[in-house]
Amino acid sequence: MSKLCDGRVVIVTGAGRGIGREYALALAAHGAKVVVNDLGVSRDGMGRDLSAAQSVVDEIHAAGGEAMVNGDDVADWEGARHMIESTVAHYGALHALVNNAGILRDRMLVNMEEGEWDAVINVHLKGTFAPAHHAAVHWRSLQKLSGEPVDARIINTSSSSGLYGNIGQANYGAAKAGIAALTVIAARELKRYGVTVNAISPHAQTRMTENLRERTPEEIAARHPRWIAPVVVWLASTASAEVTGRVFEVGGGHLSAMEGWHRGPEAAPVDDPERIGPVLLDLARRARRNADMKGHDLD
Ligand SMILES: NC(=O)c1ccc[n+]([C@@H]2O[C@H](COP(=O)([O-])OP(=O)(O)OC[C@H]3O[C@@H](n4cnc5c(N)ncnc54)[C@H](O)[C@@H]3O)[C@@H](O)[C@H]2O)c1
Repeated sequence: MSKLCDGRVVIVTGAGRGIGREYALALAAHGAKVVVNDLGVSRDGMGRDLSAAQSVVDEIHAAGGEAMVNGDDVADWEGARHMIESTVAHYGALHALVNNAGILRDRMLVNMEEGEWDAVINVHLKGTFAPAHHAAVHWRSLQKLSGEPVDARIINTSSSSGLYGNIGQANYGAAKAGIAALTVIAARELKRYGVTVNAISPHAQTRMTENLRERTPEEIAARHPRWIAPVVVWLASTASAEVTGRVFEVGGGHLSAMEGWHRGPEAAPVDDPERIGPVLLDLARRARRNADMKGHDLD
């Protein structure tokens, strides 16, 4: 019986543990050849250890699948280029890029240092843009050579922290909201080459989240990454061609499509700061409230 991702070559960044590991195992189980990228850093991005990526590759091989390790830093321009080019050199193709690698350095804005801001923005935002850019360059040249759309995929990783706005995560939330915007823009730009671009906003019990609060066994079970991986396997397959520019929130008992910024209530423009106050107050009162961290309107 044919599998959903038979013949697809898929890169998963940050696949040595957590959610990315689950993606890699599920993609391989559904027929994909998987490039398991992971720098093997600590939760805050320190150190380097390729053994986590190697053990995922070993697990895939033991189950009869195909995979290889990649130890490039996704936030390094040349590293990202090498990850894309070495994948194409090794497997002869690239069909999907899953940008999942990430780190955390939480601090209140007033205490946050420049290095904490830069490190998190770098790994998430540049670490999504750089691989996406080099993959898009590859797909554009393929499409120009053959004249055929490439049927390729980029799947990014956003977060409720950025979409809703979580206290203590100015760096991380700004990067994750940026990734949601990048997803929408890249989807519009890459459509002409046959590339879809979507994002996941996951909820999972991993080392990134396990210390945040006490959870019941039921909550932990609902936050197993196995609930998230099926979305990525389907999005990476050819079956998902019509879906692009979407952010799916998944895990912790949820599966939903996010709805982005829209123009809200309107008023006639006012060219006088002395008269604009009541108009802005009225607009602010009538506009839909920002969501709370559960995605519902704040009371
Ligand atoms: N766990 C959650 O509930 C949750 C919620 C929202 C978003 N996310 C996002 O999901 C993704 C996966 O998170 P996770 O919970 O599995 O975390 P995790 O810490 O278990 O895994 C992240 C992996 O990324 C790797 N990595 C970090 N920097 C890298 C770099 N520069 N190059 C290559 N690899 C690098 C790490 O070595 C690690 O193995 C992240 O983008 C995270 O921000 C997670």
